[in-house]
Amino acid sequence: MKTGIDLGTTYSLISHVGHDGRAILLPDHSNKDIFATPSVVHIEENTALVGHLVEMLMEEKPDMKVLRFFKRNFGIDKPFFYDSNNHGWYPEAISALLLKKLRFDAEHFSGGNIDGTVITVPAHFNDLQRKSVINAAALADLPLLGLVEEPVAAALHYGVSHKSHDQVLVVYDLGGGTFDVTVLSLDDKGVYVLAKDGHTELGGKEFDEKIGEFIIDRFMRVTGSEPELNAYTLLQLRKISEEIKIELSLPHVNYLKKSVLLDNRAIELIINRRDFEKSIHEAIEQTIAITMRCLDEAGLKEENIDALLLVGGSSMIPYIRERMRKIFTGGHQKIFYHEPMKAVAYGAGIHACQLSGDAEKYDLPPEFRGITGYNIGIRTINPVTRKVEVDVLIKKSMPLPARAKRTYYTTKAEQNRIVLDVVQMREKDNLIQVGKLMVGPLPNPSLNYAVEVTLENTEDGIITVSAYDPNTGVELEQSFNNNPEDMGYLVGQHKLVQETIINNLGI
Ligand SMILES: Nc1ncnc2c1ncn2[C@@H]1O[C@H](COP(=O)(O)OP(=O)(O)OP(=O)(O)O)[C@@H](O)[C@H]1O
Ligand SMILES: [Mg+2]
Repeated sequence: MKTGIDLGTTYSLISHVGHDGRAILLPDHSNKDIFATPSVVHIEENTALVGHLVEMLMEEKPDMKVLRFFKRNFGIDKPFFYDSNNHGWYPEAISALLLKKLRFDAEHFSGGNIDGTVITVPAHFNDLQRKSVINAAALADLPLLGLVEEPVAAALHYGVSHKSHDQVLVVYDLGGGTFDVTVLSLDDKGVYVLAKDGHTELGGKEFDEKIGEFIIDRFMRVTGSEPELNAYTLLQLRKISEEIKIELSLPHVNYLKKSVLLDNRAIELIINRRDFEKSIHEAIEQTIAITMRCLDEAGLKEENIDALLLVGGSSMIPYIRERMRKIFTGGHQKIFYHEPMKAVAYGAGIHACQLSGDAEKYDLPPEFRGITGYNIGIRTINPVTRKVEVDVLIKKSMPLPARAKRTYYTTKAEQNRIVLDVVQMREKDNLIQVGKLMVGPLPNPSLNYAVEVTLENTEDGIITVSAYDPNTGVELEQSFNNNPEDMGYLVGQHKLVQETIINNLGI
């Protein structure tokens, strides 16, 4: 069975395409009406719990350590959590437990085995973040067919369900933790990315915190003191803030009057939609500025867009649609939702069919073309100015896979290796160091020994490297310290994941 996984900051889902060619979601093993697993994990000495079970247990034990929002730490080379044995857990190992739970659910429901899966990533994820997702799949022993970007997955699903004809589509995806925007062209054969952009730390989490500030402010005004923010009150605050935020999104709810119990004191909270909108205005304007930058990058104007697809739970905030209506003013322009919290998972399942060669069998569009999200290059030091410069080999927005070569030379006769810093960047001052490429030992070191380096950005958006001797055409030994298989710490992480018995199938 092939599956697609939407690995979300707040919720994760798994889908697959059935015999009729339609993508369906696979439910939680213990409740067939639940299709979204909260992306939360609790780790004990030899046990881990995942998803709803953790949420339920937290009601009884608010002090228990719950790991959430770990998706935001992908690509950061630092443990996210230390367990009672002082073992560091990287975000990918924590995600591996979540993936194992989804796998269990899917196999339990269908009775089949997963022999290939696609996992979604935010469109703006860099190489390190994408490799973290690949590592998470490896740690969970999930055979990975490939990655697909969240807005692209949503567009695929839209294209399939609407049997779309040629059109230019913008996908605005505002989820629990990340914002992504992608401009695509769509026809009956598939989807083609024209430009993409986004922000890693902008989503529902920030909006909940704004509501939390209203509540604390009101609490202080009523009681004259601050609430004690212990684990229990923080949990209460987070839950009630999210509930209020979602209620304020309901049609015709312009104002809410609610009794809120916090720190054993009940207060009456009055909040109106306008106040909430004002508090998130800056964040929404930021998403709009990024959307405009993305359109510009695609060489398009607002009027060239046929449809704007709103995806992700946070895109259901009515203010976002209102703002979009003021931007995309053409009468022919559709601004709409299409299963905003499920579309990404459905699309991942569809992409799994595309990658496993089953698209035509199920009458699904077979084509797909992504683009590079960053300039990719080698950091060099200008010999004259001594300033750090980037030799860009692969430009942003090139069709994937993108490949480029460059020749570098040794500067000393005895030099038997060349070390190169591989970087990604959007703007000049926004450099991400993705790894060190070490070429050598060189067979017969000499001054000006030429080394031809090839960088590739694959269909999954990850960077691979190779090095040749251009005189002999022989491949040179090289190591790139961010290759998933070379990352030593994964061995330890694998042990941690495997030894953490997954309890009660709450996993
Ligand atoms: N009606 C609604 N109005 C506003 N926000 C909502 C609504 N429904 C859900 N949300 C918010 O949407 C977020 C979850 O959305 P979603 O499941 O799309 O995110 P995710 O996939 O987990 O995150 P990401 O895509 O950023 O990794 C939560 O913050 C939730 O509070
Ligand atoms: Mg999402």
